[in-house]
Amino acid sequence: MRFGFFDDAAREYVITTPFTPHPWINYLGSEDFFGLISHTAGGYSFYRDPRMRRLTRYRYNNVPTDAGGRYYYLNDGGDVWSPTWAPVGAPLDRFECRHGLGYTTITGERNGLVAEVLYLVPRGADAEVHRLRLRNQSDRPRSLHLFSFAEFSLWNALDDQTNYQRNLSLGEVEVEGSAVYHVTEYRERRNHYALYGVNVPLAGFDTDREAFFGLRRGWDQPQVVVEGRARNSLASGWAPIASHQIDLTLEPGEETSLVFVLGYCENPPDQKWERPGVVEKAPARALLARFATPGQVDAALADLRGYWEDLLSHYSVRSDDPRVDRMVNIWNQYQCVVTFSLSRSASYFESGIGRGMGFRDSCQDLLGFVHLMPERARERLLDIAATQFPDGSTYHQYQPLTKRGNHEVGSGFNDDPLWLIEAAGAYVRETGDVSVLGTPVPFDNDPADTGTLFEHLRRSFHYSLDNLGPHGLPLIGRADWNDCLNLNCFSTEPNEPFQTTANRAGRTAESVFIAGLFVHCAPDYAAMARTAGFPEEAEAAAGHAARMTATVLAHGWDGEWFLRAYDYFGEKVGSRECAEGQIFIEPQGMCVMAGIGVPEGAAERALDAVGARLGTAHGILLHQPAYTRYHPELGEITSYPPGYKENASVFCHANPWVMIAECRLGRGERAFDYWRRIAPAFREEIPEVHRLEPYVYAQMIAGRDAPREGEAKNSWLTGAAAWNWVAISQHILGVRPEWGGLRVSPCLPAQLRGLEVVRRCRGALYRITIENRARHQSPRMIVNGHPIEGSVVPYAPPGAVVAVRVEM
Ligand code: BGC
Ligand code: NOJ
Repeated sequence: MRFGFFDDAAREYVITTPFTPHPWINYLGSEDFFGLISHTAGGYSFYRDPRMRRLTRYRYNNVPTDAGGRYYYLNDGGDVWSPTWAPVGAPLDRFECRHGLGYTTITGERNGLVAEVLYLVPRGADAEVHRLRLRNQSDRPRSLHLFSFAEFSLWNALDDQTNYQRNLSLGEVEVEGSAVYHVTEYRERRNHYALYGVNVPLAGFDTDREAFFGLRRGWDQPQVVVEGRARNSLASGWAPIASHQIDLTLEPGEETSLVFVLGYCENPPDQKWERPGVVEKAPARALLARFATPGQVDAALADLRGYWEDLLSHYSVRSDDPRVDRMVNIWNQYQCVVTFSLSRSASYFESGIGRGMGFRDSCQDLLGFVHLMPERARERLLDIAATQFPDGSTYHQYQPLTKRGNHEVGSGFNDDPLWLIEAAGAYVRETGDVSVLGTPVPFDNDPADTGTLFEHLRRSFHYSLDNLGPHGLPLIGRADWNDCLNLNCFSTEPNEPFQTTANRAGRTAESVFIAGLFVHCAPDYAAMARTAGFPEEAEAAAGHAARMTATVLAHGWDGEWFLRAYDYFGEKVGSRECAEGQIFIEPQGMCVMAGIGVPEGAAERALDAVGARLGTAHGILLHQPAYTRYHPELGEITSYPPGYKENASVFCHANPWVMIAECRLGRGERAFDYWRRIAPAFREEIPEVHRLEPYVYAQMIAGRDAPREGEAKNSWLTGAAAWNWVAISQHILGVRPEWGGLRVSPCLPAQLRGLEVVRRCRGALYRITIENRARHQSPRMIVNGHPIEGSVVPYAPPGAVVAVRVEM
């Protein structure tokens, strides 16, 4: 059974039935205002911070699933239905949802009436704009009552779902013209409000949830809709909502369009009131005027499309496999941008109240969007660096609204500091903007304690060196990339979270993964040290990397693969000597990416072991065998049932490290095969197994030890987006910015024969033709008609067009 298809020309995924295996969602917005929207219009919106500034309410983990959204109801002579199928659920003669880049269009048709709703967040607007188009395709006039519906969240999403003794007395609204204003808590410390307006006069409105639904009714049959009569209710406490009633008559063949605006406004603190007790609405009126006609919405959509067209022109490919092209040209890059904006905060698996921005996550996300929006990458880099402590360690998370470190989670994840080097290196290699290295950045957001960005990187690098364990490998701290490998935690109390509970102050547990990451980061770090004017530091870094490499080979090698760690007692983790958890993916991928063991043949053995022991049809498992019982000395990793999450699922974030490692060894068939196994556009062919959105990566796919092997979970916000992008674009297709130029070094499977890559970098345009036929050992490179040695094309000046030809 198929649930949809890719429309590549429109850059849309088209869902043809409401009955997908799970809500399949999209994101609206890429600046300050965001919305999550499922294919049946479920979801919610927020301004900047999904925890602190939630505009509309959503009920996670509900029955039925996906409860709450921005809904429209039609009452067509007593026949009640929704154009987006939900929430009424009346059968439709036709259903179609098109998820595009930053917008979604959902169309429903019933009894000759076609209703199409376009949802978007226009650029530069703090609002969702909905254009509802209604067309009477029947041969009789239709008189309709149309109702909109949005339910407000009382701003703080956590309180909104928990503190009812206060909340249920707070709600306040105002109604003016065709707009409902949600002004809860505006009387006190808030100077912001929400509004929901429409561009036509109303037949009525409702702002009180109970008046709209009736106390004992569900989403599908609101009393007001069924009776076709709004109550003009004014909310006072309880649950404020916004619903507009619009009455229309459509002649046969007639079409009409309405524009709804669900927006967010702020007033300066001294200009909060229009007159005593009445909220100042000037910014709202301006917003409504910006989107008062369908033509203005068309223009906003065209602008959004143009924006994406331009963004995506920084990297595109034409190959002989459309699945490759649609991943590379559209969906992987789109997911990278969404993930950049939201880190791990708000998806259908992240409630928007749990995690803010992760330090390591945000650094890695940068790898996926730096080529698209370098200015925003620069800003992000500096924001992240400002949450670093003076000793080089870092907060594990920070809040997007305040950009301050999150004290509840604190610090102590010892891989975190190194990712800052990874991110900074990627930024400078992409842009050539070395000035960033000299930019002053505070430590722990304290303006009195500031160093250059390079100084932050130096402390990151040395943090590893200052925290080595008994074998000379980096101490793991609370955990490394694998948040659940908690070697100092020893929790036996079910109510304490693994991620935050007090750890033993051990200085024995060491991570081979961090050692690999350290060596991997060292060349970028050395190059940046040299650029920043510290040549001795660059020399020293190379020495440290060489010593760490030797240490890994001496103490981190298990005979056939790299060890994962040493635990609190100095016992091996990820060794053939272990009963379970004998081999882990992370150190194999990272150490080989770093080049460790390549000359000795260890790298090849490690990757062969990965293929043989961790490879499955659904991707590469995190480790094998899965842990079958809880081990306090290993922590949360052993808390999951076998095959799920960190306990031996396919973690899509870590798979690309192996792809890149395979490329490092020149094994293009394997690299591509691993890429294909987890790439959404390929998994689209097995939607009933995979079940989640077939256009974006999920964090994990259940592993072979799980009863539901192959089923994906936690789609959208995952480091899988950025790293799979790096693997396919920079290593398999092989086009990556390096210090001295653009390297073009494809590592391809035989099935990809002729390719064209277009890459914009540092203002120049590179048109790269790759002929993958003759299979020479070392490819021939021709730049602007002249053969060159090696595979690095020197950077061309801005505006230049460079023709590159690679014959393989
Ligand atoms: C999850 C990890 C996540 C961590 C931090 C754990 O429960 O398994 O994937 O990184 O929580 O929130
Ligand atoms: C998801 C977290 O966001 C990320 O930081 C972590 O590395 C992985 N889970 C693995 O635990």
